[in-house]
Amino acid sequence: MNQELIIVLDFGGQYNQLIARRVRECNVYAEVKPYTMSLDEIKKMNPSGIIFTGGPNSVYDETSPHYQKEIFELGVPILGICYGSQLMAYTLGGKVETAPVSEYGKTDVTIDVSGKLFDGVSKNTTVWMSHTDYIAKVPEGFKISAHSSVCPVAAMECEEKKLYATQFHPEVLHTEEGKTMISNFVYKVCGCKGTWTMDSFVESKIKEIKEKVGDGKVLLALSGGVDSSVAAVLMSKAVGKNLTCVFVDQGLLRKDEGDQVEAIFGPKGNYELNFIRVNAQERFYAKLAGVTEPEKKRKIIGEEFIRVFEEEAKKIGKVDFLVQGTIYPDVIESGLGKSAVIKSHHNVGGLPDYVDFKEIIEPLRMLFKDEVRKAGLELGLPEYLVYRQPFPGPGLGVRIVGEVTAEKVRIVQEADAIYREEIEKAGLSRNIGQYFAALSNLRSVGVMGDFRTYDYAVVLRAVNTSDFMTAECTNIPFEVLQICMNRIINEVKGVNRVMYDLTSKPPGTIELE
Ligand code: XMP
Repeated sequence: MNQELIIVLDFGGQYNQLIARRVRECNVYAEVKPYTMSLDEIKKMNPSGIIFTGGPNSVYDETSPHYQKEIFELGVPILGICYGSQLMAYTLGGKVETAPVSEYGKTDVTIDVSGKLFDGVSKNTTVWMSHTDYIAKVPEGFKISAHSSVCPVAAMECEEKKLYATQFHPEVLHTEEGKTMISNFVYKVCGCKGTWTMDSFVESKIKEIKEKVGDGKVLLALSGGVDSSVAAVLMSKAVGKNLTCVFVDQGLLRKDEGDQVEAIFGPKGNYELNFIRVNAQERFYAKLAGVTEPEKKRKIIGEEFIRVFEEEAKKIGKVDFLVQGTIYPDVIESGLGKSAVIKSHHNVGGLPDYVDFKEIIEPLRMLFKDEVRKAGLELGLPEYLVYRQPFPGPGLGVRIVGEVTAEKVRIVQEADAIYREEIEKAGLSRNIGQYFAALSNLRSVGVMGDFRTYDYAVVLRAVNTSDFMTAECTNIPFEVLQICMNRIINEVKGVNRVMYDLTSKPPGTIELE
């Protein structure tokens, strides 16, 4: 690899992905690697710099992760963060102790040495601390470059050896000038030029795939979501008609979504590939008839998908490569150091057992979600698709509480389309983590005109979340909710009540099932 690279050496910190993202935001490629990676492997990768992450351990514990001292003699710039800073101090002969006062959260520090790392950073600045140990004495040759009221070494450096360390976390946005510090490390300390951009990624990926696939046949399960769509375009640019995309419309997609996917990828679309749309709505509805238990519904949808996909794959004949839309967070979360577990992706879970192929290709494996989006725009995909809301694999199946029927699918599709339109109109769409309409299984009495109604209640949901593990209900202006309620009841047959779901996660989940 001849591109600039920063290795983020993982010592078990919780912000490791964030460090890599911040570096990439400087247009320099970064990869998270386990601390068990050997020095030879590191040398082979020829990094421009290395960042040691934080971690939960104390350097003086017997079982805590360490790295051999020789890494500091490579001449490669190193930035140690939190545990990484303590490890640097300890390994090079400094002293690390339990701090008399731990620091957690926003902390004011004073910059004592405005060297390369803190160039342009204010003398007094706010940073994010989270530590119980601290550096009590810096190693020989190091200078203290920042301190707080209770932490004598908030940062240290040895400019000559290009070694820098911060007790705080510059990668976290609460560190107000953290971006400047990371950019200083990457550009001023490591001397990077910033050549990692999405157009360069796309170009080199297409070339790499072309070489790998040659005349081989490639199969991709297209869900219409961001990841599989970007993967499809990338593959089509690389192998053209040797790519076949199978798109299964299970009748549980958002309003008009099936046609939108076909318009982009089908014969009238912009890309050269074989596009197969399977209209399997009836088949899925038949399987789901009478089933109300959420896990059972999920299972049926997943299994039926595999069956449909398998039938289509058999018609195509032998394929050489199967494409998966795995992205970098999946790779990191599934365990660094081990080869990544194949993502049990919502729509292709279990596929490798069913389809005969030589190898899996994961073209987006090294990209974060926001980078996948940028690549999608680079490849000419429309914005509405690239910025599409997250959508669960079982689709509207988990947004219809209880039994799924064609009629209920129509109701939730129409209500959801209205809701999305109004949120968009109110200019709120980019500030909400996820929002959608769902259908409760509550039917209640209402009155419309002079007539009694006995219809369904639609549930509107909107949450803000940073990682989808926890979420808070979004404070949507009441007027916007009222417009949605009016339109949904007036325009969607079968609905006479609209509710707004206030529940956080936990105790709720984002989806209703
Ligand atoms: P929950 O409902 O568990 O959802 O709070 C968290 C996030 O995951 C999405 N989700 C899924 N995504 N396959 C997926 O690919 C699934 O089966 C699935 N279930 C939930 C959900 O939309 C939310 O973004």
